[in-house]
Amino acid sequence: MSPLLFSPLKIGAVTVPNRIAVAPMCQYSASDGTVNEWHLQHWMTMGMSGSGLVMIEATGVERIGRITHGCVGLYNDLNEREMSRTLNSAKAVALPGTVFGIQLGHAGRKASSRSPWEDGSACREGDDPWQTVSAGPIPFNDGWPTPEVLDDKGIARIIQAFADATVRAVRAGNSVIEMHMTHGYLIHQFLSPLTNQRSDKWGGSAEKRQNLALEVARAVRAAAPAHVAIGARIAGSDWVEGGLTIDDAVDLTKKLKALGVDYACVSSGGLDPKARITVGPGYQVPFAREIKKQTGIVTRAVGMIVTPHQAEEILQAGDADQIALGRGILDNPRWGWHAADVLGVDLPRPPQYDRARAKVWPGSKLAREVV
Ligand SMILES: Cc1cc2nc3c(=O)[nH]c(=O)nc-3n(C[C@H](O)[C@H](O)[C@H](O)COP(=O)(O)O)c2cc1C
Repeated sequence: MSPLLFSPLKIGAVTVPNRIAVAPMCQYSASDGTVNEWHLQHWMTMGMSGSGLVMIEATGVERIGRITHGCVGLYNDLNEREMSRTLNSAKAVALPGTVFGIQLGHAGRKASSRSPWEDGSACREGDDPWQTVSAGPIPFNDGWPTPEVLDDKGIARIIQAFADATVRAVRAGNSVIEMHMTHGYLIHQFLSPLTNQRSDKWGGSAEKRQNLALEVARAVRAAAPAHVAIGARIAGSDWVEGGLTIDDAVDLTKKLKALGVDYACVSSGGLDPKARITVGPGYQVPFAREIKKQTGIVTRAVGMIVTPHQAEEILQAGDADQIALGRGILDNPRWGWHAADVLGVDLPRPPQYDRARAKVWPGSKLAREVV
């Protein structure tokens, strides 16, 4: 039986050549939202990895929506022009059929922070910090600033920013738009009862807490042309008593699907630093299974999916339609090539590199020994 991992998948109007996706991963290397040579090499490398879909990192829909000073944004013409130029170059060398997409987000109260290699804490004096915004006046953690509470006008501005960034992202060459609704960023801050204690249209009941997510989805769907697929990265759980659960995720996904959202990528956590997450191989797959079973939406699983057999088993079990790799593909950016070898698939490689193929190069087995 031919492996599912290397079979095509239709996501809305987009067909990806296989079921491997590169998870969106912040590189913290942009300058005022604009990408540069680092992103060029990263996207080229990922475009050659054998993954059918490469998702560009969380990209701020407005300047204050970036997580760090180094995060990518799509809020001005320069951001868009450089993304377009860089993406065109990456596509020029990517394996045939590789699809590029982008995650659009707003960091809310987790914005204005330092990159992980600077310690990941909130920016302080001297770091050029900025005022953050959220659903309520609750700081992310001790030592973090109190966010400004968004009013109707501010919320309308953010919904419009998602639509505008969608238009820019599509013009820049992305075929998939993913709304970031998890990891404790702004939309998640509105969704979770732990961070949203409002009593207006945007909070107060489970339904009202979903309003921002649904309005953003409506705006993004309307802004994206029909040939572009849209999706949402959602929280399978807050991993905290009183927080969002898988039932909330199922309910939200059903509503997103009704609005024309084509897929869900099921992640979790990031909202509350007190959360204790049990991380292990495939630790978020049970959430994906539930979303797929109960909503029928195209579902992507992510989180410690590391080996080709593990990925194939998730797909064969029907737990997800696609798998995403984060750290595993940073560690081994030829993951797709090697997975094809392991599963007995003849994945085309660039002819320039073909002499290193396992079939023709006896050194291949030795080279794959873990050192
Ligand atoms: C360097 C790095 C940057 C990340 N940036 C993002 C991001 O921009 N958006 C997002 O939704 N998740 C982000 N994540 C989470 C990954 O997309 C992925 O969900 C997570 O790493 C779990 O998958 P893994 O076990 O295969 O790494 C990031 C993870 C890493 C390691």
